[in-house]
Amino acid sequence: MKIISDVNELKTYLKKEKKIIGFVPTMGALHDGHLSLIKKAKNECELIVVSIFVNPTQFLVGEDLDKYPSRDEADKKICKLAGVDVVFLPQKEDIYGSDEVSLKAPNVRGFVLEGATRPGHFDGVLTVVNKLFNIVNPDYAYFGKKDAQQLNLISLMVKQLFIDVKIVAVDTVRESDGLALSSRNIYLSKEQRKGALKISSSLYEASKMVQKKIYTSKEIKKAMSEILKPLEVGYVEILSRDFEVIDTIEIGNTVILVETLVGSTRLLDNIWL
Ligand code: PAJ
Repeated sequence: MKIISDVNELKTYLKKEKKIIGFVPTMGALHDGHLSLIKKAKNECELIVVSIFVNPTQFLVGEDLDKYPSRDEADKKICKLAGVDVVFLPQKEDIYGSDEVSLKAPNVRGFVLEGATRPGHFDGVLTVVNKLFNIVNPDYAYFGKKDAQQLNLISLMVKQLFIDVKIVAVDTVRESDGLALSSRNIYLSKEQRKGALKISSSLYEASKMVQKKIYTSKEIKKAMSEILKPLEVGYVEILSRDFEVIDTIEIGNTVILVETLVGSTRLLDNIWL
């Protein structure tokens, strides 16, 4: 497995290889969620590139950039065991200059939900993912459904900027008790972790209601809010796959998204129906 920090070195290497490239962008502190993206890429591609870069431009002032977990050595081992071919591990200076061209998330889709609580976050995500795509030039790029809005905006960027990559959406990996894996779960105390289970429980309840043919968003949101108490809820939203608010669930075209603050940790989860 190669570990490369230099942009030009990586570009030259990948061009020379002439293989079908599967790309998994990450911010490190790898867990089984990231691994499922890597495994899917392994199944479908010839050469797997994983990037590990805690992207400063997607963190707002006062957010957890400085305390974001950094586990480069463990991450490299995980990648090696998973059969990754190249780990791209750039420094900030490899990616950003002092006077930057940057992308702006779309005014509507980019500034609702996560974009409303974290205005500018998706500008940073799109800017870095676009840069990474230009560096790696992958055939396929893998993203988790867990970050549904991120996935939606990246797919939109690829379409609108005519980027030649196929975006692959990967199912959310959960702990056996339902908690969606996240690099931020390590911030949770035992008590908070227990409380956080209300998030997946509320989504399971929504899914059960739909199985019982209850399709009204209002009714489902009400039941979910009850279950989520007393967590501090950022939002519970029922949207189409195009991220438009819908009053009635349409099977095959619905995402239910939840964001809560557990202590000072923001947790996201969702279910695709
Ligand atoms: P990061 O939070 O490290 O996540 C990297 C990828 O792993 C994302 O596509 C995310 O959706 C996916 N992922 C996280 N938890 C998951 C889970 N439990 N199951 C399945 N997939 C999961 O998302 C980012 O980094 C950054 O914003 C990035 C796209 C790398 C840009 O900086």
